[in-house]
Amino acid sequence: MQDLLTFLGASPSRFHAVENLCHTLDGAGYTRLSEGRAWELAPGGKYYVTRNGSALLAFRIPRKDFTGFMISASHSDAPGFRVKENAELTGPDGYVRLNVERYGGMLCAPWLDRPLTVAGRVLVRTGDAIETRLVYVDKDLLLIPNVAVHMNRAANDGFKYDAKCDTIPLMGLEGTKGSFRAIVGKAADCKEEDILGTDLFLCIRQKGLVWGADGEFLSAPMLDDLQCAFGCFQGFLAAKESASVPVFALLDNEEVGSLTKQGADGTFLSDLVSRICEAMGRDRASAVANSFLVSADNAHAVHPNHPEYADATHRPAMNAGVVIKHGVRYATDGAAQAVFTAVCQRAGVPVQHFSNRSDLAGGSTLGNISNSHLSLNTVDIGLPQLAMHSCFETAGVKDTEYLIQAMTAFYGCVFQEENGRFTLA
Ligand code: CO
Repeated sequence: MQDLLTFLGASPSRFHAVENLCHTLDGAGYTRLSEGRAWELAPGGKYYVTRNGSALLAFRIPRKDFTGFMISASHSDAPGFRVKENAELTGPDGYVRLNVERYGGMLCAPWLDRPLTVAGRVLVRTGDAIETRLVYVDKDLLLIPNVAVHMNRAANDGFKYDAKCDTIPLMGLEGTKGSFRAIVGKAADCKEEDILGTDLFLCIRQKGLVWGADGEFLSAPMLDDLQCAFGCFQGFLAAKESASVPVFALLDNEEVGSLTKQGADGTFLSDLVSRICEAMGRDRASAVANSFLVSADNAHAVHPNHPEYADATHRPAMNAGVVIKHGVRYATDGAAQAVFTAVCQRAGVPVQHFSNRSDLAGGSTLGNISNSHLSLNTVDIGLPQLAMHSCFETAGVKDTEYLIQAMTAFYGCVFQEENGRFTLA
C-alpha cells in the first residue's frame, strides 16, 4: 500500500507517472527503445518505449517462439484543469488569477478551497534542440475560493459551476503580475524566454493517505486510473516467463476520448504488436488471435450515502476484489469474462461484477476504443472506488494487492482460442 502511495505522491501529472515507471524499468534492466529507430529485439529481452512522454509500453520477448500477447491497458490522465497558454488573468480589483480550462469530466466542488499548484511538462529551447522538462511547482501556489454562502444562497442546492469563472484559481495580488511564467521557468530550470511550449495542469497539494476506523480506506489524487496502472505494472514485473509476450500499456487522453497519437484511439499499441511480430518473424494475425487484453480502469463501489445509484444485483464493495465491468459500452463478453475469472481463480483473487443501473448510461473506457485498432479478446475490469473524478478519490486498501496478484497470474499465462474453446496454459 505504501508503494502505491509513494508512486501517486511522485506522480502529480501523467508525465511524471510515465517517468517514474521508466525509472523502475531502467532499474529492472529493461532497454529503452525509440519509436524513431529500427528495433533489434532478442529472445529473453526486456524493453519499453514511450510516446509523447505520457504513454508507455513495456514488454518482454520470451526465450522461445511466442504464442500471442498478454496485454493490460490503463490510462495515465485524470480529469482536471489545464492551464491555458496565455495563463495570467489580471484583475478584477488587483487580483491575479490563472486562466484554466476543463480537461475531462471532473467533479468541480472538491477542487475549491484547497491548496493547488501546477505540474506537467515544459518544452525548452537548448541550442539547436527542444528539450522536455518535467515540472512540479513545489509550493502552495493557487487556490480556487468558494463564494460565501451569504452571497450564493444556491451553494448547497445543486450549484452549476461556470468554467470561465467559478473554477478559476487565484494566484496573487497585483504585484505578482507577470510572475507565472517565471515560476514555471524556475521549476524547469530554464530562462523564461526559452520556454517554447507547455502542458501544465492544476494538481492538489494533498498527498494520499490511509484512513478509517481500521485503516481500511485510502484516498489520493488520480486513483482513476493510476491505481490500476500501478497494479497492472507490478503484476507485469512479477510474472513468470511464459510462451506469451507480456505487454504493459499505459495510454493517455482516456478522459477526453482517447483520440490522440498517445491515446487508445491512436496506433501506439497496434504499432508495437506489428513491430514485435516483424522483428521476431511471427505471423501477426494468428498471434493476435491468441492474445488477450485486460482493459483496467477503476469501477464504482456502492456509495454509502447513495446506494440507490448501484444496480440491484451488481454492487461492488471496497476490499472485496477485482471488478469485471459489463455493459454495452464495455468490451467484456461472456468468453472474456470466463477467461479472466479463471485467471483470478488461479490467483486466489475474489471477483466482483459491475453493471450500470439500467437507466444510467455510465462511463466508457479503453477496451472498445483500443479494439478498433487491435481487435482481440478483451475484458474490462477495475478496482472499486468512491468519488470517481474527484481530485481526491477513495478506494479500499486491499484491492491493489488483489489486482497485482491477478495480473501476476494473467501475465504468466498462454492464451489460445480455437472455435469457442479457450485454454490458459
Ligand atoms: Co478512468
